[in-house]
Amino acid sequence: MASKEAEIGIVGLGAMGANLGWNIAEHGYPVAGLDNSDDKTEAFATNAPKDGDSAPVTATTDAGAFAARLRAPRAIMLLVPAGDVVDSVIDSLLPHLDKGDVLIDGGNSHFVHTDRRAADLKAAGIHFMGMGVSGGEDGARHGPSMMPGGDAEGWKRVQDMLEAASAHVDGEPCVAWLGKGSAGHYVKMVHNGIEYGLMELIAEAYDLMYRGLNMSREQIQATFAAWSKGEMASFLMEITADIFTKRDPMSDGYLLDEILDAARQKGTGMWTSQEAMENKVPTPIIDAAVAMRNLSDFKAQREQASRELSGPHDGQGTQPDGADALVEALGHALYGAMIMTYAQGMHLLQEGNKAHGYGIDPQTVARIWRGGCIIRARLLEDLRAAYARDPQLPNLVFDPDLEKRLEHSQPQLREVVRTAADWGMPAPGLMAALGYYDAYRSARLPANLIQAQRDYFGAHTFERIDREGTFHAHWD
Ligand code: 6PG
Repeated sequence: MASKEAEIGIVGLGAMGANLGWNIAEHGYPVAGLDNSDDKTEAFATNAPKDGDSAPVTATTDAGAFAARLRAPRAIMLLVPAGDVVDSVIDSLLPHLDKGDVLIDGGNSHFVHTDRRAADLKAAGIHFMGMGVSGGEDGARHGPSMMPGGDAEGWKRVQDMLEAASAHVDGEPCVAWLGKGSAGHYVKMVHNGIEYGLMELIAEAYDLMYRGLNMSREQIQATFAAWSKGEMASFLMEITADIFTKRDPMSDGYLLDEILDAARQKGTGMWTSQEAMENKVPTPIIDAAVAMRNLSDFKAQREQASRELSGPHDGQGTQPDGADALVEALGHALYGAMIMTYAQGMHLLQEGNKAHGYGIDPQTVARIWRGGCIIRARLLEDLRAAYARDPQLPNLVFDPDLEKRLEHSQPQLREVVRTAADWGMPAPGLMAALGYYDAYRSARLPANLIQAQRDYFGAHTFERIDREGTFHAHWD
């Protein structure tokens, strides 16, 4: 290869950057890598795929040499940790770039930062795109779901390459240009918010089976494995079933039992909740998931409270005979709650779309989430069909097909929540799902009282149901 011929440059040759680079090379596009670590640049070039169809892969620690290897206009993808690193990497690259070059941030950047960077780079004549990449290392290597947005000129430059490298479902690539500005990172943020919600629901189901029903590891594993083949078929369900089989290399037991119950987070779920609050969109399942990660981290306080606060103990009332019925109910409850998690995320996406003027098509989002990403699931096909039936659908709960499934699952969701409450088992995600369902179908909520209170103590006024206008009462 002549050194100037690389089709794309990858900056940041950690697990994501290296695997995505090799994936792109494997599809016949020469790749140049840049990293400040000698070990990583060497490993990137040395371990690159070598089969006949793969294109050459080179790597360097020198930004100037890297830029010189790229075909003009250059296409460069950053796969570096979100935050200040993105700005410093951009600053170090800029002196080597020319007007018309395309820069893609493929990390989990906050969409607000993406907007700022896009504005700065536009002034420098650079086509900037923010792109969510989902699927972890394995996805990056064998086909991720990619969520690009921003400069449409930039998209044309990389479209073929990214379509080739993405996951495919029914022959369709799991990548599409999603909209203007920070649309790509916004969609990825919502993806991760949904991811948090689904993970919390699955964890609650495990807890109800393990501590609640005292089911054996094998029984729990078999339940998740069965769920992962039915209507709840999804990546998260599959890996959950796998996790129960993993032995601990450092002891005689299972690895899961040795893992500290304090969940960490990088912030994308919290951003989803924050953005939902900002736009006044209810996303209580996602909010509960974020809160539960936070609560889990107060391990010492939980241990103290477990000794001091009274309540029913785990698994009270479990009967071997009733266990099967409850597990079945749990399956339906989980499914309904999962549908509502997607519905809440998509609701935020649609309101955010309006607020930020992105021009995102929800059907396209459902399509590119069907494969490659962490929240891929059989259900995504149904979500896509729902938006095909009605592209303006305000909330997925109004789709006739999904509505039926929610109706079918709600008695079981009720039963599971009731049982969890009776047993003193925490299930805030499932409870939030039921609360959301019941609140959504309440034509009248007690918000009238809240309005009355606001008016009472703060003269904040209220509206009436029987006439137009704004009113204030002298309550005392
Ligand atoms: C993905 C994942 C990925 C990452 C999460 C983890 O779509 O591939 O979402 O982006 O694993 O950011 O997030 P937390 O550390 O916040 O759990």
